[in-house]
Amino acid sequence: MSVSQHLTTPSIYSSSSAFFANSNFHVRPQRISLPGKSIATCKCVAVPQEEIIAYKTNVSRNANIAKLQAGYLFPEVARRKVAHLQKYPEAQIISLGIGDTTEPIPELITNAMQKKSQALSTYEGYSGYGAEQGEKPLRTAIASTFYKDLGIEEGDIFVSDGAKCDISRLQIVFGSSVTMAVQDPSYPAYVDSSVIMGQTGQFQKDVEKFARIEYMSCTPDNGFFPDLSKVSRTDIIVFCSPNNPTGASATREQLTQLVKFAKDNGSIIVYDSAYAMYMSDDNPRSIFEIPGAKEVAIETSSFSKLAGFTGVRLGWTVISKELRFSDGSSVAKDFNRIVCTCFNGASNISQAGGLACLSQDGIKAMGEVIGYYKENTEIIMETFSSLGFKVYGGKNAPYVWVHFPGRSSWDVFSEILEKTHVVTTPGSGFGPGGEGFVRISAFGHRANVVEACRRFRELYK
Ligand SMILES: Cc1ncc(COP(=O)(O)O)c(C=O)c1O
Repeated sequence: MSVSQHLTTPSIYSSSSAFFANSNFHVRPQRISLPGKSIATCKCVAVPQEEIIAYKTNVSRNANIAKLQAGYLFPEVARRKVAHLQKYPEAQIISLGIGDTTEPIPELITNAMQKKSQALSTYEGYSGYGAEQGEKPLRTAIASTFYKDLGIEEGDIFVSDGAKCDISRLQIVFGSSVTMAVQDPSYPAYVDSSVIMGQTGQFQKDVEKFARIEYMSCTPDNGFFPDLSKVSRTDIIVFCSPNNPTGASATREQLTQLVKFAKDNGSIIVYDSAYAMYMSDDNPRSIFEIPGAKEVAIETSSFSKLAGFTGVRLGWTVISKELRFSDGSSVAKDFNRIVCTCFNGASNISQAGGLACLSQDGIKAMGEVIGYYKENTEIIMETFSSLGFKVYGGKNAPYVWVHFPGRSSWDVFSEILEKTHVVTTPGSGFGPGGEGFVRISAFGHRANVVEACRRFRELYK
């Protein structure tokens, strides 16, 4: 059986005690209060405390950071959740907002980390700084597990503390003068890191976009793949598949078009494959499955959603030696320079865990947890479909993208929170193209997902 087959085979993981293991959520269903439909929607905006400034330095604020709007999306969602709890201290809040994993990491993986951790207390097993690019056995295992027969070698892999961190490090490599395109909607770290690097102009309130970023519209009408004939040339094209938040995964033909588009324009694709192993369709799991991609693409990925490593922290980035800047210099060499300057390598304990993940048993165990989340996704999709909503995503990603035509995403977010105590994520937080949608995450204990769906049915029946 291939890795992807293992990882996508749904499997039942239904011990009820496991649902509540490590949970901060107190399940007291009899005390769940579900306000009736008549209650007006509250925007539940926490009132910021007046700040008293006693002293100011003479250092001016980074003007690029000042361009950012409101705050990073997920802290804002968390802030509203806290405000809601202040209003309803007894509420049984269920979080299907931020895409954070909830199920325990399989023991064979934590055992490997425990062993490594204990070895650090011995003279024989102690190690300090490691190679900034990651330990060779893990780089080799990543290359052979995810890029077998794709011409990617161990030396092309840079192990990291996560894909989000690598996205920022890549921005440092590119600098402030490049132009960037993103899918609209997309994972907010792409736009925000571009703003912070100074690649953009100001936020334009009328269109809800930053100047100098090319927003590639991804809607149900174009099957969530941009019409490239309408996309202006940029230096960098960030592309995430399966996509967060829409859950759409690009086909081989679409990725072939994307690679050709990049080559025709002399652009570099940054391909985020953090959710590749959630795919059910037979679409490419790596951009390097597309011929010619090594000359135009970088891939970044993560153990976060693959193995529940959102807290452990481990990811990787792949840059082939064939990828070159316009002066012929190597992109991988510059990334290596940034990695050596800004990062001292992933934790040796995390790397031991990562290596265990990629053993045969580890792959099987991760596949079981992924299968569990995929069942959650089906439950959420079925709930909203049966209530008459248009539902997207889900099949290839742990996110369900629900359409509320003509409504504001933040209003729907507030309505759901106020009336069901379920936290979702407003689609407009992922870009203007997300307006009118809400993202429901399938990361959650089964009992919570089932209960949230019961409340959704009650609200929208
Ligand atoms: C598309 C995408 N890329 C990257 C990340 C971050 O991954 P990591 O935890 O490895 O930093 C996320 C997290 O939600 C994500 O959705």
